[in-house]
Amino acid sequence: MKKIVIVTGARRGLGLAICQRLAADGYKVLAVARSDSPELNVLCDGESVCFECFDLSNTDKIHAWVGDLTKRHGRIYGLVNNAAIGADGVLATMHERDIAQSLLVNLQSPIVLTKYVSRSMLLGGAGRIINISSIIGSTGFSGLSVYAATKAGLIGFTKSLSRELGKANITVNCVAPGYMDTDMTKGIAPDKLMSIKRRSPSGKLATVESVAASVSFLLGGDGAMINGTTLTVDAGSTA
Ligand SMILES: NC(=O)c1ccc[n+]([C@@H]2O[C@H](COP(=O)([O-])OP(=O)(O)OC[C@H]3O[C@@H](n4cnc5c(N)ncnc54)[C@H](OP(=O)(O)O)[C@@H]3O)[C@@H](O)[C@H]2O)c1
Repeated sequence: MKKIVIVTGARRGLGLAICQRLAADGYKVLAVARSDSPELNVLCDGESVCFECFDLSNTDKIHAWVGDLTKRHGRIYGLVNNAAIGADGVLATMHERDIAQSLLVNLQSPIVLTKYVSRSMLLGGAGRIINISSIIGSTGFSGLSVYAATKAGLIGFTKSLSRELGKANITVNCVAPGYMDTDMTKGIAPDKLMSIKRRSPSGKLATVESVAASVSFLLGGDGAMINGTTLTVDAGSTA
């Protein structure tokens, strides 16, 4: 029987690439998004990839929704907390509602989702949780302070939770990508992009496929002894 993995933010960008990779690996992927896209539609065959419509900012509905998912699909083996919003802007002029929304979608929602999905993993006696953080969680970038706080929060969450769940054969890790060319980064100023490229020793930048491959590794048998860590995939930009 295929192992079931939930991937959030599956409509586009990295989430879509993770769904493609995990389906090819032989998992049954529950692709969570607020709405589908032509690319996700092509992937969803109801067998290896199933579209699950949910707005993760509705944290009070997560408990019931996870119950429904497990009833329909069975016990969950893996959770990839990938969905996030960018929140680009100088803190002094950022609206409080935008700060609150970032904290909700990027940090509170994955924590609440993990709480309920980990119960399913505890019953199954195995599990893998992968939180998509960012190099911005540990390095500075002007205009991304709130986003950075959420991504650093995921790293702290991961470390302590890995100690809590490790004894139950459940690993919890972060993947921290560097810059990837997705909708989230399309508004970046050309001079900032140039300086990001200059920081990479190879002149190359991470791709969604390379980050999806790291997620695949952490989910698979070869990743079993990796717990509570952050795997950076940034082509050496922060070295
Ligand atoms: N791109 C980069 O350079 C970069 C670098 C480091 C880390 N990351 C991290 O990588 C992950 C994926 O980023 P990306 O570049 O692929 O971003 P993206 O293209 O903007 O995709 C983000 C995904 O999250 C979903 N999402 C946002 N709010 C949601 C909500 N309330 N409920 C459900 N889904 C929601 C979006 O769904 P909708 O389509 O419905 O909006 C979208 O599918 C994020 O955690 C991001 O922080 C990205």
